[in-house]
Amino acid sequence: MNILGIESSCDETAAAVVSAQRGASPRLISSAVSSQVAVHRPYGGIVPELASRSHIRFITDVIDKALHDAKLSPAQVDAVGATAGPGLPGSLLVGLTAGKAFAWMMNKPFVAVNHTEAHICASFLADPTLRPPLLALVASGGHTELILMKKHGSFEILGRTRDDAAGEAYDKVARLLKIPYPGGPGVEKMAGKSKTTFRLPIARMKNGSLDFSFSGLKTAVANALPKTADRGAIASGFQHAVIGALIMQTTEAIRSTKAKKLVLAGGVAANSALRAAFTQLASSEKIRLVIPMMNLCTDNAAMIACAAWFRLARGHRTPLSASSDPSWTAGTVLTGDMA
Ligand code: KG4
Ligand code: ZN
Repeated sequence: MNILGIESSCDETAAAVVSAQRGASPRLISSAVSSQVAVHRPYGGIVPELASRSHIRFITDVIDKALHDAKLSPAQVDAVGATAGPGLPGSLLVGLTAGKAFAWMMNKPFVAVNHTEAHICASFLADPTLRPPLLALVASGGHTELILMKKHGSFEILGRTRDDAAGEAYDKVARLLKIPYPGGPGVEKMAGKSKTTFRLPIARMKNGSLDFSFSGLKTAVANALPKTADRGAIASGFQHAVIGALIMQTTEAIRSTKAKKLVLAGGVAANSALRAAFTQLASSEKIRLVIPMMNLCTDNAAMIACAAWFRLARGHRTPLSASSDPSWTAGTVLTGDMA
């Protein structure tokens, strides 16, 4: 089966094709991503209305490119999956509507995909031998969640951020450090070059909670700025604290769930220092680790097509009447969809 995946939940317009067979993980055939970095850079962050307009402008181009690169005609697509949430309301509607329209026009099955679940599913493209159960840390611009994936279609959130997501903290601190959008990679670069580190606090949760909190860290960065001119040291201290918090809670989750497999996913997983810290963690906790390649960590449609395949394989179909849900939580049923 050839599955077309479509993604437009935030600031990347993307389409991809995976090929799949029953009982096996899908294979990536093509992946097209149109980035909106140039659109949002002058504003220092994502402007939702501009994101929606840019999605409208490029959605058919990326679908054409994904099909062209896969050497497929629209009639050779067997099913379509599109992100229905979580994400920016206007942006979600563009890809979701395009996906439904394609499925309706070609009379093919359609499935709505949860973006957070799809980030985890990128790991099945990265390592086709990987199977659930597994523990995943999804760290992105909108979410930071520790999720237990018991089997395909079964996701339990063990911990989540109580305020800012890890990626959001990177983006906000980037603005404080006057690093241009997109902030995450810029802060990583500045931190990596610094020979000094300004120590910043890690938020510790009470009563064994696996939740996260990053807003205090952002305030600590703002308070540190008048104390030192060494912005590199602050970037390094910030990155140290974020990675420390992610490692601390993931270690707790590994021990409490006795998980044997660990996945690191989401845009922040493109961070080399975090990847290295997880590699070290996996070795000391003796757990199998899968981290998707960088272009499968940041937003893409390959992970959407992959997640769509696992839903289709379970016989799932989403009615074309179902709408998006900007707050759709991983592991729950989309309103108007069939379980
Ligand atoms: O998953 P993603 O592409 O979009 C969302 O679903 O939010 O994640 C984007 C987030 C942004 O906050 C961005 O700053 C962060 O991931 N990010 C990074 C890096 N690359 C992207 N954060 C730290 N280091 C990076 N190298
Ligand atoms: Zn994402």
